Amino acid sequence: MSVTMSLSVLGFLLVLVAVALGQDGINQSTCVAEDAASLAKGIVTPGWGVNYSTQSICALKGSTVNLSCSYMYPSGTVTSTFWFTKCKWPTYISLLNDSDYTGRVNYSSNQMNTNTLTITDLRVNDSAIYWFRFLTDQTEGKYYGKPGVTLSVTGLQVKMSATTVTEGDRVTLTCITTCNLPGSTYIWYKNRQLINNNTSLYLNPVSSMDAGNYSCAVNGFNDLRSPEKTLTVLYGPKEHLSISPFLW
Ligand SMILES: *[C@@H]1O[C@H](CO)[C@@H](O)[C@H](O)[C@H]1NC(C)=O
Ligand SMILES: *[C@@H]1O[C@H](CO)[C@@H](O)[C@H](O)[C@H]1NC(C)=O
Ligand SMILES: *[C@@H]1O[C@H](CO)[C@@H](O)[C@H](O)[C@H]1NC(C)=O
Ligand SMILES: *[C@@H]1O[C@H](CO)[C@@H](O)[C@H](O)[C@H]1NC(C)=O
Ligand SMILES: *[C@@H]1O[C@H](CO)[C@@H](O)[C@H](O)[C@H]1NC(C)=O
Ligand SMILES: *[C@@H]1O[C@H](CO)[C@@H](O)[C@H](O)[C@H]1NC(C)=O
Ligand SMILES: *[C@@H]1O[C@H](CO)[C@@H](O)[C@H](O)[C@H]1NC(C)=O
Ligand SMILES: *[C@@H]1O[C@H](CO)[C@@H](O)[C@H](O)[C@H]1NC(C)=O
Ligand SMILES: *[C@@H]1O[C@H](CO)[C@@H](O)[C@H](O)[C@H]1NC(C)=O
Repeated sequence: MSVTMSLSVLGFLLVLVAVALGQDGINQSTCVAEDAASLAKGIVTPGWGVNYSTQSICALKGSTVNLSCSYMYPSGTVTSTFWFTKCKWPTYISLLNDSDYTGRVNYSSNQMNTNTLTITDLRVNDSAIYWFRFLTDQTEGKYYGKPGVTLSVTGLQVKMSATTVTEGDRVTLTCITTCNLPGSTYIWYKNRQLINNNTSLYLNPVSSMDAGNYSCAVNGFNDLRSPEKTLTVLYGPKEHLSISPFLW
């Protein structure tokens, strides 16, 4: 008897774990499909609505992002508000209950009928569509706002026009993102020392002094550096020709 009990408790816990992991078909794809289907049908519920302050946003890996919305409803009292990325009707998983986001999300409301989701320490895998849902004390008083907010999280990568060059060549270093971070300028590090150049770094003509490990960061987010990329500079024949007369 007690064995059966603990097995059913275990089974229940496994179901909870499966839901938290977004298995069991409760995932982003099932939400996207549902959202697309209702948008295609032009479903509008009079009196209900959610306005997102932005519909798509690009953010830097490791940084913090705020997603905000305002919402309205015809009557009653709001009993629950939350954001989600994984669902399958009628289950919607609050990010506060989603193990992918543990300790990294917060909801706040600084005005009536507004809500802000804050996600800290962003990961590339946080790239997803985020929806806001609220429940009221009325029968059928549940709603979520379409089409949500599309969040893209980008890391940084150093792109070099060449990684092995000869003295006298020219090299361009560019800081690459996978989405457009509006209004951002970039800063550069060589061997972990800040060098005061932004956007692209042009080394022309390159000298042996330029050899080293380069990384970039978004200005103002100096600690969130890209992985390093090594520039190798080979001695050019020109140098030897110009140096040899001095030897004599
Ligand atoms: C989401 O769930 C559906 C079943 O409802 C499944 O077919 C699909 O593979 C799942 N997608 C992911 C990314 O887990
Ligand atoms: C997010 O919003 C909070 C207040 O709600 C603010 O203090 C913080 O600076 C905002 N962060 C970003 C990255 O916009
Ligand atoms: C959304 O914005 C539109 C236009 O500004 C406004 O008419 C509508 O009432 C807003 N809806 C919500 C839920 O705030
Ligand atoms: C979140 O989890 C709590 C219990 O831990 C539960 O009461 C609540 O319904 C869950 N909400 C959502 C939206 O997942
Ligand atoms: C969540 O936001 C509220 C309101 O802005 C704030 O008081 C609280 O400290 C925040 N909690 C965390 C864990 O950041
Ligand atoms: C991101 O998600 C993919 C599949 O969804 C997974 O294979 C990968 O390990 C995840 N990466 C991180 C850093 O969590
Ligand atoms: C580029 O960097 C220099 C020196 O650090 C700074 O004075 C200048 O404002 C920066 N330019 C931009 C567009 O950020
Ligand atoms: C940085 O930029 C300045 C002008 O903006 C230029 O004179 C200097 O050569 C650059 N430094 C490197 C290392 O590219
Ligand atoms: C550059 O990085 C490589 C590989 O990570 C390392 O072996 C080398 O010592 C680094 N050079 C400098 C100057 O930090």
